[in-house]
Amino acid sequence: RLQEGLDIPDWFTYPEVIEELRRTHPARHKQGFTVFFTGLSGSGKSTIANALLVRLLELGTRPVTLLDGDIVRKNLSSELGFSKEHRDLNVQRIGFVAAEITKNGGIAICAPIAPYKGSREIVRENVSAGGVFVEIHVSTPLETCEGRDRKGLYALARAGKIKEFTGISDPYEVPENPEMRIDTTSLPPDQAVQQIVLKLEALGLIR
Ligand code: PPS
Repeated sequence: RLQEGLDIPDWFTYPEVIEELRRTHPARHKQGFTVFFTGLSGSGKSTIANALLVRLLELGTRPVTLLDGDIVRKNLSSELGFSKEHRDLNVQRIGFVAAEITKNGGIAICAPIAPYKGSREIVRENVSAGGVFVEIHVSTPLETCEGRDRKGLYALARAGKIKEFTGISDPYEVPENPEMRIDTTSLPPDQAVQQIVLKLEALGLIR
């Protein structure tokens, strides 16, 4: 048997050591974490992220901050375009804010496209230094995203009116080892959130 919230057995009874471990290793359900969604435009990132925000706020265990792609672009990265360099910078900014929130015991939910593996890995490293990083690939295929075309951007990209459009004229590097993959083609947002909540419970981050 393990002692409450610590990975040490019951028979270990050095009070000073236990006290120090409790200080330096807070129980996982009290630790900060980041849920980082990545996927194509129109894959369902924002919808799921917003529904997850509501669910985690209801749980009320820690403050929750949503860093959505469009909102970050408007408020934090308004001068940036969609070149690789600018996308990487945008994702690093999101990662920096998420790492700060996580380090201070909060929950950050990020929902950029984040098409490049290298910059996602840097965010993972930065966040993991102060808490737990959970990467969720919203893997809804291009055909579905383009079929939905909620913002009309795919049509503009096909017509060549938007350059460097992810999936059409710009790359998306598929995550190799995300903590989860979710395809929203025939999965409603509430069911997607339910799967994520189960994953967060399995990781010991909520209960
Ligand atoms: S990135 O790659 O992570 O920096 O992108 P992100 O900050 O998430 O911004 C994506 C949203 O910007 C709109 N948009 C484009 N997306 C992709 N490629 C191009 N060229 C582009 N131009 C504008 C689009 O609405 C994206 O929003 P979502 O919510 O993903 O559909």
